[in-house]
Amino acid sequence: MSISLRQGGLADLEAVYQLNRENFSEYWSRESLFSALESGYDLLLCEAECQVVGYLLSLTVLDEIQIMQIAVFSDYRRQGIASRMTAALAESLTAADHHVCAMTLEVRQSNHAARKLYAGLDFEEVGYRKKYYAPDINGNREDAILMTRYL
Ligand SMILES: CC(C)(COP(=O)(O)OP(=O)(O)OC[C@H]1O[C@@H](n2cnc3c(N)ncnc32)[C@H](O)[C@@H]1OP(=O)(O)O)[C@@H](O)C(=O)NCCC(=O)NCCS
Repeated sequence: MSISLRQGGLADLEAVYQLNRENFSEYWSRESLFSALESGYDLLLCEAECQVVGYLLSLTVLDEIQIMQIAVFSDYRRQGIASRMTAALAESLTAADHHVCAMTLEVRQSNHAARKLYAGLDFEEVGYRKKYYAPDINGNREDAILMTRYL
């Protein structure tokens, strides 16, 4: 399979919205994604056969880059796409001699696939936010694990 990465923008909003909706229980509205892209969030896309099959949305805050969302279309998982997008983001920072010194993210405690992905990419678990996510149907709120990769 031939895949390619490219920077995304407002023209890709619908594709990103669909992936976002399919992959996250607390997904962002089109309006929230639009505001994020307009206000300076960075969007990295992965395409296969001219279709968007994965994306990584990030925000640089001072010397830290926060991975806000990363998702890969289910048919394309376990082929290294999320790893490749994260590596490309880290490389772009290093290549630009950027002042960014860490990549950070929050992940649901129960999201073992994502936690394994990040651990394999040298992210360390550095803390947690108790009951961070919205309540589920039973009223339970899940903790977020905070992870950091020092660049
Ligand atoms: C998490 C997610 C982004 C991973 O994308 P991916 O492209 O499949 O990840 P990769 O192929 O780069 O996986 C790299 C490694 O991560 C781990 N991993 C990824 N998915 C896994 C899974 N379902 N179960 C166990 N380990 C997993 C494995 O160690 C894998 O290496 P391997 O395939 O050689 O064993 C994808 O499953 C997804 O979109 N999930 C829904 C959205 C989500 O949870 N995003 C993260 C929110 S914080």
